[in-house]
Amino acid sequence: MNKLLNFYGRFAPSFTAAGFIARGLPLRPIGRAFSGQTWLVTGATGGIGKSIAIGAAKRGATVYVVGRNGEALAALARDHGIKPLQFDLDKVGDNVRLAEEVAAGVGKLDVLVNNVGRLEHVYKTSPDGFESTYALNLLGHYALTERLIARGALKDGLVINMASGGLYNSALSLRRLEQTPERYSGVMAYAAHKRAQIALSDKWTAQGVRSYTMHPGWVATDGVRTALPDLNKHLGWILRSGAQGADTALWLAARRPAPQAGALWFDRAPRSAHAYPHSQTPEVEPAAIFAKLEADVAKAGGV
Ligand SMILES: NC(=O)c1ccc[n+]([C@@H]2O[C@H](COP(=O)([O-])OP(=O)(O)OC[C@H]3O[C@@H](n4cnc5c(N)ncnc54)[C@H](OP(=O)(O)O)[C@@H]3O)[C@@H](O)[C@H]2O)c1
Repeated sequence: MNKLLNFYGRFAPSFTAAGFIARGLPLRPIGRAFSGQTWLVTGATGGIGKSIAIGAAKRGATVYVVGRNGEALAALARDHGIKPLQFDLDKVGDNVRLAEEVAAGVGKLDVLVNNVGRLEHVYKTSPDGFESTYALNLLGHYALTERLIARGALKDGLVINMASGGLYNSALSLRRLEQTPERYSGVMAYAAHKRAQIALSDKWTAQGVRSYTMHPGWVATDGVRTALPDLNKHLGWILRSGAQGADTALWLAARRPAPQAGALWFDRAPRSAHAYPHSQTPEVEPAAIFAKLEADVAKAGGV
């Protein structure tokens, strides 16, 4: 408990709305930058993804949102002119099918936001039999993005991976990616997934697709209320709004800054992805992570 309170205490001035305001971001509008662009935002029927989708649509983009809740998708279409795509991103096959349908039916994307993600405290399996948060937070992002790249749908586009300050808790790790029920730590699994997203961004950038990994700050969403009730209880009154959590994604897409290997983008700047010494030394090479992801996509019959 003390460890948790120390974590919250250390990062609250920066990660809450207080940090967003202290950096003067409300006074620096992003502008209407996205006319003529096509975006795909995953996990966008609520929370940060919904705010990103609405923010991009308001600024002129044609936005496709991916979610599994039909009613919420219909409301986004009705109220914001956003184009709904119903898929369950827990499933590798849905990620692959989504990529195929987008590549064939939509064509080239200007921006892909791999936003969907969650933290669980109880071990569960995905429909494919993987630990469920590994399937959603990392394997699905990999399956979707690799297939979009392979189909040429991200040529000249950019990718934004939604990570979290939670990655400070782990070095790049293979053993923590897909945890077993016997010794399940959802917090460490989440940290490892978010840490691995940085390796994916660096990989895709090296392949010619400008990719960023970002932290949204601490945002008042259903995800936080469910997964981090203590954070919500102690700091709920000062958590960021959805629009504040979406800000860096919109800014990255508007400015397209040069990606920086290993960076965690937060509040419109590349920042260190390490807050503690223990995360600095990777347990494995990134190639070992990519090999597992590739093997697991194949195992699920996704290739
Ligand atoms: N909120 C924060 O403070 C915070 C901080 C750091 C990082 N993040 C990251 O930001 C991202 C978004 O977080 P959030 O707090 O906005 O989460 P959230 O409130 O739980 O929203 C996630 C959205 O994704 C949808 N979704 C969940 N599982 C899905 C699936 N299998 N297929 C399709 N859609 C699915 C949810 O809809 P249904 O479940 O209703 O289908 C919901 O609309 C996550 O990657 C999270 O790790 C958040």
